[in-house]
Amino acid sequence: MIAKQQLIIAPSILAGDFGNFARDAKRVEEGGGDWLHCDVMDGHFVENITFGPDMIAAFRKATKLPLDVHLMIERPDLYAERFIDAGASHVIVHLEAQHDVGRTLALIRRCGRAAGLAIKPATTADKVIPFLGQIDELLVMTVNPGFGGQSFMPDMLLKIRALRAAAKHLPIIVDGGINPETGRQCVEAGANVLVAGNSLFRHKTLDLREAITELRRQCN
Ligand code: DX5
Ligand code: ZN
Repeated sequence: MIAKQQLIIAPSILAGDFGNFARDAKRVEEGGGDWLHCDVMDGHFVENITFGPDMIAAFRKATKLPLDVHLMIERPDLYAERFIDAGASHVIVHLEAQHDVGRTLALIRRCGRAAGLAIKPATTADKVIPFLGQIDELLVMTVNPGFGGQSFMPDMLLKIRALRAAAKHLPIIVDGGINPETGRQCVEAGANVLVAGNSLFRHKTLDLREAITELRRQCN
């Protein structure tokens, strides 16, 4: 029997108010979030630009939560250390970016941080297998990276199931279109870390604590 992994809720600040990020990071902490998911985009790997290491430093000051930094950038090898120096707790890099994946993962671990590997929806599970011994967590995108508020891609559930079978004790993160219904499906398939942006920050009650509590209750 595999020990049931702890369910982790990681609200995505991308859905927060860009004019009040420090306030919203604190709201996530006070609302019961476990990690703060920080989406870094460079306008090359994805067709959007968000923020850099200085914003991570501001989040570091605003909350005690672990900063789960999702690098949607072409060259994570060139920037990983700057995000770590700024306060990143987890650094998640994309398999599909232009870098030596193993070297970047080793660099992150050498700096004493959790090394995560992320894959886009079009990337198949078999591509991850060679790296399972080099990572501390695996992020399965359930939308195409670049923007919040997209619809969940249910055909990712098979990939989650396959990766859980291959990596029994590894934290598996799902990211994109996660709400109580899709989150529950992902947990049943084997995920244990739920990244959610719009479903939390635009919850019908507009109360982040209520939204996080509902997501946790529905998916536990
Ligand atoms: C998309 C980001 C996701 C996104 C999640 O590229 O990686 O973290 O912010 O936002 P929702 O939950 O609104 O899809
Ligand atoms: Zn993300």
